[in-house]
Amino acid sequence: MDICRTFDDIRSAVGRWRAAGERTVFVPTLGNLHEGHLQLVRLAAQHGQRTVVSIFVNPLQFGKNEDYSLYPRTMDADIEKLESVDCSALFCPTDKEIYPNGVEEQTTVAVPTMTNILCGATRPGHFTGVTTIVAKLFNIVQPDAAVFGIKDFQQLAVVKRMVQDLCMPIEIIEAPVARAEDGLALSSRNGYLNDAERDIAPALYRILRAARERILAGDHNYPLVEAEAKVDLLHAGFLPDYFSVRCARTLEPAAAEQELAILAAAWLGRTRLIDNITLTLQSP
Ligand code: PAF
Repeated sequence: MDICRTFDDIRSAVGRWRAAGERTVFVPTLGNLHEGHLQLVRLAAQHGQRTVVSIFVNPLQFGKNEDYSLYPRTMDADIEKLESVDCSALFCPTDKEIYPNGVEEQTTVAVPTMTNILCGATRPGHFTGVTTIVAKLFNIVQPDAAVFGIKDFQQLAVVKRMVQDLCMPIEIIEAPVARAEDGLALSSRNGYLNDAERDIAPALYRILRAARERILAGDHNYPLVEAEAKVDLLHAGFLPDYFSVRCARTLEPAAAEQELAILAAAWLGRTRLIDNITLTLQSP
């Protein structure tokens, strides 16, 4: 695996591969890699001859009260994990290289819809931070395709919208949610849970599944489904942030659409977990 620290390094590697007729698939990450990330890299390897993973803890997407400085930086362990999968190059730039004019003065890329709701409602500016860094990384790496996890459903929808709106010639590949055996979606944040919280955590997915079953069984009173799921989350030990049945494409509150996503975010102690599940309703 090549380790590229500068724009020139990664661009010339990808350029060489392109000249040889090889397709590059990109997996952007914040590092602190776990099995979920490795599954993204394995999926990337199925879609091209070359895979590039980036590790960059992006200050622009963290809010003032969020865990930017505390976010685990585990580069040595991350490199070891990437060596165990089919990763052609790791791109790990410095803050200075990515934000030469400072974070405050960075030109931004903002998707106007979908970004102030759900996670965006309590994390103002977060998705603009994500789309800005993803656009920059796409310009630097110039991949043919990029993999994003369905676990971050809203992020995936926002990135797809940016790619469409800005005519970026990059295929977006959607990776299924990687889960522990008990159903908990794999996330770097799971590492913050204590033992008691880790025992409670799988209830988030159980409650999502129950809501899905209820809707599939014909209950289309979404506000009631949402309200009762929040009560279930409270009883399980969570402090719910949102639990919402949405149109899977626009993320607007669900009405008569058939492709739905149920998205949830909830606090367990000091850890905020997110998860989601999708469903297709049969036409009436
Ligand atoms: O999902 C993430 O890890 C980050 O939001 C991303 C896409 C790498 C952008 O920093």
